[in-house]
Amino acid sequence: MIKIGVLGGSGRMGRLIVQKILESPKARLSAVGIHHQKPIGLDLPDILMTTDPEEVFSHSDIVIDFTKPEALQDHIEAALRSTKPVVIGTTGLTDAHQILIKEAGHHIPILWAPNMSLGLTVMLKLTEKIASILDSSFDIEILEMHHRHKTDAPSGTALALGKAAAKGRNIPFHENACFNRMECHTSRSKDQIGFAVLRGGNVSGDHQVFFASDEEIITLSHRALDRDIFAKGALKTALWLVGKSPGLYTMQDVADLPWR
Ligand SMILES: NC(=O)c1ccc[n+]([C@@H]2O[C@H](COP(=O)([O-])OP(=O)(O)OC[C@H]3O[C@@H](n4cnc5c(N)ncnc54)[C@H](OP(=O)(O)O)[C@@H]3O)[C@@H](O)[C@H]2O)c1
Repeated sequence: MIKIGVLGGSGRMGRLIVQKILESPKARLSAVGIHHQKPIGLDLPDILMTTDPEEVFSHSDIVIDFTKPEALQDHIEAALRSTKPVVIGTTGLTDAHQILIKEAGHHIPILWAPNMSLGLTVMLKLTEKIASILDSSFDIEILEMHHRHKTDAPSGTALALGKAAAKGRNIPFHENACFNRMECHTSRSKDQIGFAVLRGGNVSGDHQVFFASDEEIITLSHRALDRDIFAKGALKTALWLVGKSPGLYTMQDVADLPWR
């Protein structure tokens, strides 16, 4: 039984991940990290609940972190001190956070992914492939919708799709991303990657990538029907990552798709 700790146990995702671990025959819930000592809504009398991330790591073989960007540095430092692997699903990260994650990969097994579903992992690869085939007569636009509580925008998944498209087209992402068309008082440049964001209701995560020419449009579309898919993906990822050598891993590694 792999001992798994969860950071962000009171969150929407944290609670689901805790439930998935409790249901798993391969995993045991070892500790739950809470931030504001909020009740997590589950009766767990024998499980360590703590506001100290270091305690979560010391009681666990691996830790799953779905919290907020402002917690990331503390959580990575705790992981490094304990030399335990960590799966991170938090989005809204800055470039500086990404550097922290990359550097941690020299010392511990670490995986960050903005989306832990298999379908989206496949869609990232398809986006890169289509962008590598089509020339810039096809405009690339990305649309996403999430529930009303989501705070970061565009979603980490939409950004990952944009980066996959930029990689496929062999153009720099940051120079070509357009996050607010109201600020660009020109028509779109040929390599621009535009983002549009909707927030409302209880949407778990909808993403579309458009490749639009004068004559035709290809649309890739993914809809997460339930947040459960991300919790299951996080558990599967933790079971896969535990015991690996230090390194920065991706969902492509976990999914082991036949084409890299
Ligand atoms: N990778 C994926 O597949 C995937 C899927 C869905 C969501 N996400 C991402 O996962 C993250 C959490 O989403 P959610 O819907 O669960 O959000 P949420 O319901 O707002 O939960 C956030 C959790 O983080 C805790 N937290 C907030 N600030 C913290 C801090 N400074 N230190 C430690 N813990 C802190 C909160 O504790 P308190 O309530 O006590 O403040 C809460 O437990 C978001 O970034 C979201 O975009 C990723």
